Amino acid sequence: MVAEGENLIELKHVYKLFGPQPRGRAFDLCRAGLGKNEVQRLSGHVVGLNDVNFSIRKGEIFVVMGLSGSGKSTAIRTVNKLHDTTHGEVIVDGVDVQKLSGPALQEFRRQKMGMVFQHFALFPHRNVIDNTGYGLKVQGVPKADRDKASMQALSLVGLESYALNATSELSGGMQQRVGLARALASDPEILLMDEAFSALDPLIRRQMQDEMMEIQNELHKTILFITHDLNEALRIGDRVCIMKDGVVVQIGTPEEILTQPATGYVAEFVQDVDQGRVIATSDVMVETQALRDTMSLAEAMELIDDSTGGFVVDDVGRPTGLLTSEDAARASAMGTTDLASALRIDFESTRPTVTLNENYAAAGRGLPIAVVDDGGVLVGLLDPKGMMEELGRVEQLIDGFEREVFM
Ligand SMILES: Nc1ncnc2c1ncn2[C@@H]1O[C@H](COP(=O)(O)OP(=O)(O)OP(=O)(O)O)[C@@H](O)[C@H]1O
Ligand SMILES: [Mg+2]
Repeated sequence: MVAEGENLIELKHVYKLFGPQPRGRAFDLCRAGLGKNEVQRLSGHVVGLNDVNFSIRKGEIFVVMGLSGSGKSTAIRTVNKLHDTTHGEVIVDGVDVQKLSGPALQEFRRQKMGMVFQHFALFPHRNVIDNTGYGLKVQGVPKADRDKASMQALSLVGLESYALNATSELSGGMQQRVGLARALASDPEILLMDEAFSALDPLIRRQMQDEMMEIQNELHKTILFITHDLNEALRIGDRVCIMKDGVVVQIGTPEEILTQPATGYVAEFVQDVDQGRVIATSDVMVETQALRDTMSLAEAMELIDDSTGGFVVDDVGRPTGLLTSEDAARASAMGTTDLASALRIDFESTRPTVTLNENYAAAGRGLPIAVVDDGGVLVGLLDPKGMMEELGRVEQLIDGFEREVFM
């Protein structure tokens, strides 16, 4: 069995070409490094996947993101062998999926994977619980057992009270929840979700993303999630894989994608994303020397040195007061030697995992912000200017790429 964090799904040098002779000249052209358009022009074959490599760790949400036609659906379909590959291996939990066929393939899919697609594919006249248990019915699970599993799955998506309604009576968002419940009902290790939320309006879509992440926190599935929306990808993905023309352009955490886009193409995408939503306080905070209330103003100023300020902490390290360098300089110029008289106690605090956007209001005061851990102990200092610079740095990075692209 694959342990949490180890690779559960692996695509190794996977090629998928569409056309009458996928393993012929078109494949050679691909291997020679030609792009999708050239291969199509020279061979009349469409490139679905071009040497795709990625590994999905057990327990993670891995998002494949790209524009229409970039190969996302083709990639997900190689995992359950809805597509044969032209070349390459697809390993799921140690099994070479592409080698399976017939009943063995059916059984493997049933056991391992649940699928959720954009179009819910529910039976409109059957009730919610029968739709949810449909996969189990196909597997020959007795009604009482599948109803029990269905109710459990429905409660995960918050629809247990609708079990007996016809699905045609539900809203789009609710129908998509039934689709998710249906995938969850057989308790598969892997969820394959192809544009599962794309048909929903933005607010409902956000709710579904939140719900899915909550469910994931509880169930620890391995999720391969496809979307063409970078915001969605960055929001829900533990790691994001960006595809273009059948090629993997970059794989990284949302933060890596945002702060270190591998190519101008990624940078251009990233441009439209609100950086502050993804970058965490811990990425921008600086180390700070804790001050003690027994110190003199001069001693405290020496410790602050040329940073924007410092925090006085209590015996366990929790901040109790803020000395900004400006306040210190002013007090000192007036001849004060007492630290307490230069301290502010109305300072702001935040946590390392909080995003920069969530610090915006606090940062607006222009004063250093105390970064504290779960126990309230000071772990760093967030300088509002540093925060703005980080956001600016990402913008500059994008500008740099743009110049490169246009040069
Ligand atoms: N059955 C097929 N026959 C021929 N070409 C196909 C087939 N399926 C996909 N393709 C081609 O392969 C390429 C990748 O398609 P794919 O469906 O994987 O894109 P996608 O990234 O999922 O796009 P979308 O966001 O529109 O769903 C496209 O150029 C498409 O035309
Ligand atoms: Mg698709």
